[in-house]
Amino acid sequence: ARVPMPEGPTAGTIEALREEARRCTRCDLHCMATQTVFGEGPVNAKVMIVGEQPGDQEDLAGRPFVGPAGKVFNEAVSAAGIDRTQFYITNAVKHFKYEPRGKRRIHQKPNMGEVQQCRWWLVQELDLVQPKLVVAMGATALFSLTEMRHKLEDVRGRPIAMQNGRTLFVTVHPSYLLRIPDLGRKAEEVARFKEDIVAIGRLA
Ligand code: URA
Repeated sequence: ARVPMPEGPTAGTIEALREEARRCTRCDLHCMATQTVFGEGPVNAKVMIVGEQPGDQEDLAGRPFVGPAGKVFNEAVSAAGIDRTQFYITNAVKHFKYEPRGKRRIHQKPNMGEVQQCRWWLVQELDLVQPKLVVAMGATALFSLTEMRHKLEDVRGRPIAMQNGRTLFVTVHPSYLLRIPDLGRKAEEVARFKEDIVAIGRLA
């Protein structure tokens, strides 16, 4: 799989990149969001986790995966005996996209153009962190990382060789697990997600 490189000058450190991203106007999502939710974690992390985009709570906190999807993720990571803080955790899109409905903000999926614009940041995070393993959680992350629109099930749960000797691992997005109405199926899918996280721990 190929990750397209950004054109033009790039920031030299993750702190400089984060600072630049704070002022990002590459797409219109910055107009409505509270703040840019940039990646977090050690700059020398072996594993980079890529989600879709911040949700309501992430938008307010300014940190990735701190809301309900983050809770599902954290539980799977703890169950696998992994310390979350060893991962560099980021998103394909760094602003919350929503539709106001009364007092609520209803999450909306980023479109292809927004993902493509925001890839500018993800590619530079990859360049600076140089993770050995990149984990795409969900189709949006997978599309951002590979520009390919695979069915998740076709590529899920096994290491895939990328350029630069990197390995890609694809799993579902934890929000998907929250939306499964049938409790039996949900338990099965949560168990599969946990197996994927164990596999990630072994590959790291
Ligand atoms: N969903 C994501 O993809 N990322 C977050 O940071 C939170 C929810």
